[in-house]
Amino acid sequence: MATPVALVTGASRGIGAEVARLLAAAGVHVLVNYREKAKRANAVVDGIRAAGGQASAAGADVCDGAQVEALLAAIGERFDALDVLVLNASGGLERGADPSYAMRLNRDAQLRLVTLALPLMAPGARIVFVTSHQAHFYPDKPVPDGYEPIAQSKRAGEDALLAAKPALAKRGIELKVVSGDMIDGTIIVRLLQRKDPASVEARRDQAPLPSVEEFATEIARAALQSNAPGTTYVGGADYLN
Ligand SMILES: NC(=O)c1ccc[n+]([C@@H]2O[C@H](COP(=O)([O-])OP(=O)(O)OC[C@H]3O[C@@H](n4cnc5c(N)ncnc54)[C@H](OP(=O)(O)O)[C@@H]3O)[C@@H](O)[C@H]2O)c1
Repeated sequence: MATPVALVTGASRGIGAEVARLLAAAGVHVLVNYREKAKRANAVVDGIRAAGGQASAAGADVCDGAQVEALLAAIGERFDALDVLVLNASGGLERGADPSYAMRLNRDAQLRLVTLALPLMAPGARIVFVTSHQAHFYPDKPVPDGYEPIAQSKRAGEDALLAAKPALAKRGIELKVVSGDMIDGTIIVRLLQRKDPASVEARRDQAPLPSVEEFATEIARAALQSNAPGTTYVGGADYLN
């Protein structure tokens, strides 16, 4: 049987990099997507190869339709098919990001990537959308200062993908969502800590924040197992009450 192939967007660091390592450890050839940090993506690839896994760096800004088309064409040429697509790349909190950026990245780019990837995805293929509780439960629960555009746009991205779920199911493609509380030690939580320390402390008061490994494990599980729930929640049990 051919080695399964997964594209993990935004895998040059953080949660995406850990998902890439876990999928590779499970025998998948992982395409480690990055926007601009080629050196970091190559280090993730080297680490996977050193551990005996298969991986390749795959640069493309997912907001750039032409770059996404070129990436998918290259995947088609090299592998014929894409078995797993992990929609992990996200943003909007960056200093100086223009106001429309969060929606372009967290909604529009996600939907376009799925649409363009479909010709490579056969029945049995899986798509996983990675989100945060602060976005998944938007607008029903409070969000940290400065995070609202990200919460709104990631919620809109999730809604757009869920609207496509019946059409995906018709093609035999599963769509899964994995939502996490603030994840300990990540750059996003460090940024939030600066903007709104009380919101981070409030989450820590509920329970220890989940680790990158815990969150990535559930994302990898959703990507690999056909019986994973439609939505998996990691941490933040109080959100579910
Ligand atoms: N951190 C948390 O507390 C937390 C909690 C719950 C859910 N999540 C979700 O988990 C996912 C990953 O979060 P993270 O904290 O690991 O993120 P992160 O550290 O900010 O990493 C973002 C990754 O996305 C890439 N990226 C950004 N814009 C891109 C674009 N336009 N095209 C392609 N790649 C792009 C970056 O690549 P470059 O390095 O090349 O720029 C980087 O690899 C996100 O969906 C986030 O919402 C995070």
